[in-house]
Amino acid sequence: MELRKSQVIETLISAIILLGLLSSSVAAHCAVRYAESIEFPALNCRKHSAVLTDFGGVGDGKTSNTQAFKAAIANLSQLAADGGAQLIVPPGKWLTGSFNLTSHFTLFVHKDAVILGVQDESEWPLLPVLPSYGRGRDAPDGRFSSLIFGTNLTDVVITGNNGTIDGQGAYWWKKFKEDKLNETRPYLIEIMYSNQLQISNLTLINSPSWNVHPIYSSDVIIQHLTILAPVDSPNTDGINPDSCINTRIEDSFVVSGDDCIAVKSGWDQYGIKFNMSTKHLVIRRFTCISPDSATIALGSEMSGGIEDVRAEDITAINTQSGVRIKTAVGRGAYVKDIYVRRMTLNTMKYVFWMTGSYSSHPDPGFDPNAFPVIKGINYRDVVAHNVTYSARLEGIEKDPFTAICISNVNIKLTNKPKELQWNCTNVQGVTNRVTPEPCNLLPVKEIDCPFPDDRLPIEDVMLKTCFVSGKF
Ligand SMILES: *[C@@H]1O[C@H](CO)[C@@H](O)[C@H](O)[C@H]1NC(C)=O
Ligand SMILES: *[C@@H]1O[C@H](CO)[C@@H](O)[C@H](O)[C@H]1NC(C)=O
Ligand SMILES: *[C@@H]1O[C@H](CO)[C@@H](O)[C@H](O)[C@H]1NC(C)=O
Ligand SMILES: *[C@@H]1O[C@H](CO)[C@@H](O)[C@H](O)[C@H]1NC(C)=O
Ligand SMILES: *[C@@H]1O[C@H](CO)[C@@H](O)[C@H](O)[C@H]1NC(C)=O
Ligand SMILES: *[C@@H]1O[C@H](CO)[C@@H](O)[C@H](O)[C@H]1NC(C)=O
Ligand SMILES: *[C@@H]1O[C@H](CO)[C@@H](O)[C@H](O)[C@H]1NC(C)=O
Ligand SMILES: *[C@@H]1O[C@H](CO)[C@@H](O)[C@H](O)[C@H]1NC(C)=O
Ligand SMILES: *[C@@H]1O[C@H](CO)[C@@H](O)[C@H](O)[C@H]1NC(C)=O
Repeated sequence: MELRKSQVIETLISAIILLGLLSSSVAAHCAVRYAESIEFPALNCRKHSAVLTDFGGVGDGKTSNTQAFKAAIANLSQLAADGGAQLIVPPGKWLTGSFNLTSHFTLFVHKDAVILGVQDESEWPLLPVLPSYGRGRDAPDGRFSSLIFGTNLTDVVITGNNGTIDGQGAYWWKKFKEDKLNETRPYLIEIMYSNQLQISNLTLINSPSWNVHPIYSSDVIIQHLTILAPVDSPNTDGINPDSCINTRIEDSFVVSGDDCIAVKSGWDQYGIKFNMSTKHLVIRRFTCISPDSATIALGSEMSGGIEDVRAEDITAINTQSGVRIKTAVGRGAYVKDIYVRRMTLNTMKYVFWMTGSYSSHPDPGFDPNAFPVIKGINYRDVVAHNVTYSARLEGIEKDPFTAICISNVNIKLTNKPKELQWNCTNVQGVTNRVTPEPCNLLPVKEIDCPFPDDRLPIEDVMLKTCFVSGKF
């Protein structure tokens, strides 16, 4: 007996649907494991390797893995002197509270893995405030440890093949907005008093506050990061090098509710006393979207000084400003020898913005005679479209910002531009080949603004080719 054609088709369709259901349920529930060998660049390769599940990790998105991370890292820290170890976070959703890294160690987050920050405060230990800040940014006293934290370490790599770290920050943003924080919110990744750091090939989303915060550290490489947070989320700065020497930030993309990069070095009298600058910083091939903040901010906390910053090939879209300086009386120290070239900007409120009255202070104990020195600020080769104000350059009375140089800049304005395109007060410097025409305080001098020819040692640090392998 012959089946009707339509019956055949129906049967075939049901079979296909059934197969589809089967295979998707296999993928979802039975975790098909494939042998994989993943190549990745790192400061150092490790002799030993372990997987989070070796230490009781459960990747269901519900079970807390704080103890599994702690047990794993405690165990692997014993191997630091024997070639070091790497911990692989395999595919799955790994809920966790804060945990601490160790030296000669690699945390590798697989592309199908998501580390989820738990929304239970008891899993976030409190730390003392940072000595160069004197208080927390959200509250005077304690601060929550970052999700991934490390202190007094050497040779640490946090990487993956685009695995995700999700801070689940909504809980913290709400508390912040309702003014219910008694302690400062946690960051996503913070490493203190350390050297030889690499943070790369990860997607960081929804941090409770700042995303990446290397502080009091040196020899830091940050590359291939995608950092995403809602543009209205509070203080979700992308990358904040803070009192760091020799840092390279490259090939990264940030969408955030605050500055995409904020270069810092401590706050008022606490930062002046701690006296550790951020210097020898390279930022290149970097893209930012942040409608209410800067592409790169220098400050406002700059009381240990900021010097020798080189930024090139910077793109910003729908962002408030380009490379902005923020400071105030009370900060002391300096921002000097800043070099920026090749910025491509589209839909900006300001191309150039410097603010000398960014007067948030940790407490009334700041020194009213601590005048910051802002000098040697160089911008060249900038193309901008759809701009509201070309520049707002506001130095400090009796403490002008000096040796500003701006050359080869072409700014195209919005169809409703502001009348005063260059609003300059208490600044000195020169310009060359800049449109629209700059202010009188920055007269024309026929030069190209400088950008250093030499290379910084951090630019020549080569990464080795390392592997993780296993059935994931
Ligand atoms: C932890 O390290 C010890 C060696 O110090 C080893 O014997 C043990 O098997 C490790 N534990 C796990 C869960 O891998
Ligand atoms: C991490 O180390 C710091 C400083 O040693 C400590 O205060 C904190 O409790 C540690 N965090 C965790 C999660 O163990
Ligand atoms: C870490 O290093 C700093 C600066 O050298 C030091 O003050 C602090 O005591 C060290 N902390 C630990 C936990 O070793
Ligand atoms: C890291 O990201 C870069 C840029 O997307 C990519 O070329 C490289 O293959 C990535 N590395 C790994 C290990 O995924
Ligand atoms: C990494 O993942 C993010 C988020 O899914 C995505 O936007 C980005 O393009 C990915 N990067 C690479 C190199 O695959
Ligand atoms: C914050 O501190 C106040 C007063 O010390 C206390 O009443 C309140 O419960 C605390 N809030 C939280 C969320 O811990
Ligand atoms: C900060 O340290 C430098 C040396 O690194 C020194 O020259 C300077 O006077 C110090 N500044 C303060 C305010 O202590
Ligand atoms: C230009 O900028 C304005 C804001 O000033 C924005 O609303 C508009 O969408 C932008 N236009 C384009 C074409 O990007
Ligand atoms: C010019 O800048 C000063 C200082 O930032 C500000 O107070 C003033 O309102 C600005 N003027 C205009 C017309 O934007």
